[in-house]
Amino acid sequence: MKQMLQDLRDASLKAILDCEDAELLESLRVKYLGKKGELTAILRQMGKLSAEERPAMGQLANKLRADIEEAIENRNKVISALKMERRLISESVDVTLPGKRYLLGHKHPMYNVLDQIKDIFIGMGFEIVDGPEVELADYNFTKLNIDEGHPSREWTDTFYFTEDSSILLRTQTSPMQIHAMETKELPIRMIAPGRVYRKDEVDATHSPMFHQIEGMVIDKGITMADLKATLNLVVEKIYGEGTVTRFRPHHFPFTEPSCELDIQCHKCGGVGCPTCKGEGWIEVLGAGMVHPKVLAGCGIDPDVYSGWAFGMGLERLALGEYKINDLRLIFENDKRFLEQF
Ligand code: DAH
Repeated sequence: MKQMLQDLRDASLKAILDCEDAELLESLRVKYLGKKGELTAILRQMGKLSAEERPAMGQLANKLRADIEEAIENRNKVISALKMERRLISESVDVTLPGKRYLLGHKHPMYNVLDQIKDIFIGMGFEIVDGPEVELADYNFTKLNIDEGHPSREWTDTFYFTEDSSILLRTQTSPMQIHAMETKELPIRMIAPGRVYRKDEVDATHSPMFHQIEGMVIDKGITMADLKATLNLVVEKIYGEGTVTRFRPHHFPFTEPSCELDIQCHKCGGVGCPTCKGEGWIEVLGAGMVHPKVLAGCGIDPDVYSGWAFGMGLERLALGEYKINDLRLIFENDKRFLEQF
């Protein structure tokens, strides 16, 4: 029996030392020390021994059990240390490898121009407001004094969502005048930049989507002089001090009187050149005194309050500022173009 215990000692301790896996080690524990294990099998034969031999064999067997347990425990520690070491190696980061280069973009040139305009108006106490691009015909037309039958209401010009022509993609930012008058406390000083949509074929000067900036002031005692003074100041800030302007009579249904604002061509000084198409003047925006009917329709008493409004195209401004000759470049998102700004 002594030999059997010695053989078991040799075999088990060697197997344990060779083991490299925690699960395998557990199965070794069961194999040697479990209820149906090899040590138990040997102990079952103790009955065959004489009374004198038994205590010594018992002691040997207990010592073997303790040694196997200790060997397993030690091996377990080694295995988990090995496992950690392998993990550290596999997850190690080589900090000397070159990093990934992330290409940072920058603001679109048109939004640079928009930011510049926003700054100018914020500096004069205006607030920037935002509104829906999907609009009611009521707000895009009717409340702006644009009657049924007006050409701009045609299905050939406007993107409608409904057969009854009641919901559409706004064709101008002017409905923001109505939203502001209906929801804001008086006095109002606001600009509303945003996208507008018209059924235009794409070419160098047209796009079915483009941007406008609407502006409006409503207060007591506002006159055409306020309109002219403010817009002259804005034009000087955009095009430079001393820029010559001209307010040319025009018609818009929602303003009375209405005008268009031209600047004298900064390229030729008004003589006529390709930039101004020989006119000497460049049209910048439409404007006017808010029509009393429009004020009244928004619940504002035109005998107490008055105001002025303007609307201008943002793309045209950006094209001029950056000397870009084709509107399509603004929307195509070609990196070779955008990287120049
Ligand atoms: N909404 C006009 C357009 O799209 C531009 C415009 C003209 C806006 C006169 C105004 C204004 O606020 O007073 O052509």
